[in-house]
Amino acid sequence: MIYLDNAATTFPKPDAVWEAVLTCGKERCGNPGRSGHALAAAAARELFSVREAVAGFFNIADSSRLVFTLNATAALNTALYGLLREGDHVVTSSLEHNSVMRPLHALERKGVITLTMVPCGRGGELDPDDVQKALRPATRLVVLTHASNVCGAILPIREIKALLPEIPLLVDAAQSAGVLPIDVQALGIDLLAFSGHKGLFGPMGTGGLYTAPGLKLSSLVQGGTGSRSEQLEHPDFLPDLLEAGTPNLPGLSGLRAGVEFLAQQGIATIRDHEMRLTGLLLEGLAGHDKIRLHGPADPQAQTAVVSVTIDGRDPGAVARSLDREYGIACRASLHCAPVAHRTLGTFPQGTVRLSMSFFNTEAEIKETVRALGDIAEGKI
Ligand SMILES: Cc1ncc(COP(=O)(O)O)c(C=O)c1O
Repeated sequence: MIYLDNAATTFPKPDAVWEAVLTCGKERCGNPGRSGHALAAAAARELFSVREAVAGFFNIADSSRLVFTLNATAALNTALYGLLREGDHVVTSSLEHNSVMRPLHALERKGVITLTMVPCGRGGELDPDDVQKALRPATRLVVLTHASNVCGAILPIREIKALLPEIPLLVDAAQSAGVLPIDVQALGIDLLAFSGHKGLFGPMGTGGLYTAPGLKLSSLVQGGTGSRSEQLEHPDFLPDLLEAGTPNLPGLSGLRAGVEFLAQQGIATIRDHEMRLTGLLLEGLAGHDKIRLHGPADPQAQTAVVSVTIDGRDPGAVARSLDREYGIACRASLHCAPVAHRTLGTFPQGTVRLSMSFFNTEAEIKETVRALGDIAEGKI
């Protein structure tokens, strides 16, 4: 199989990830922070060490400000519902995933917030000045994807934050964590939501949310934390405030191994490899008169996510042919981001999305170019 669905979840993961899951499950899987026995203490140490490792990876100074969640969706909902209040205005872009769009839409429909969606260009570009112009006195938050899950376009979050130093910036790093360098302090990120199971190579059921000092969220979920058990009020300190219930400790051990793998390889090496593959794919497809590329079509301006359509062919049928005839796994249709497709001009049929990772090879990309060429020429 040629796996090109890494934007959904990465496959394969480094062996060390699954080894870490197993070791944790066999040796450290008491309930962290709940009991005082040796196994629970080992679990608490394990959880702390994962928190420190992931915080270090994003240059988060105080690891207690990083909470673990099930995925990026849970992190984004925790941030949006935890921060926004009646009367707040929110600015976002037209490239966002439904994990941002749906909670914002729900809050808008309930009359809690007002929303401005800044349009991106057909190549996925966003002008920082347009974001600044959308600000109002009641603007409480700017929410932006770091990189589009549909076309890979990288948004200029550093430049945007520089224009609005006072307004909190929530970055959806589902597609960029482990793929692009992320230093929350250097980029001025106030809230960072990420998946553990994509570019960070962690298992499914892992993700996280960072909140910068000075920002206080309310908790979406209250319950057991192992702390202040005598009180009926949920703890108001991090990480317990936003981490009720038993965590996915084996998954988080795997996430630490994923982050360690990235640190060993170096993000620059990973990015170089993925840019090379992206360039190869874009070049290979660009010459074909029936194949359309959607998005930046520039490896420097995008992650290793490439959206294509073939004239006269349904994206779902193309993806099925790739799977059945060539053993190429990819994703077709709207990729949970209908507004992004309206922006790119590919709504409602969507696109075929080919998303690569560090583990893909040049030979696999050449085979994919050949397969798409065959399909476009009607050989399949
Ligand atoms: C840009 C973006 N945001 C959010 C999500 C949601 O991530 P998760 O599946 O970890 O909840 C995704 C998933 O594909 C995504 O691509």
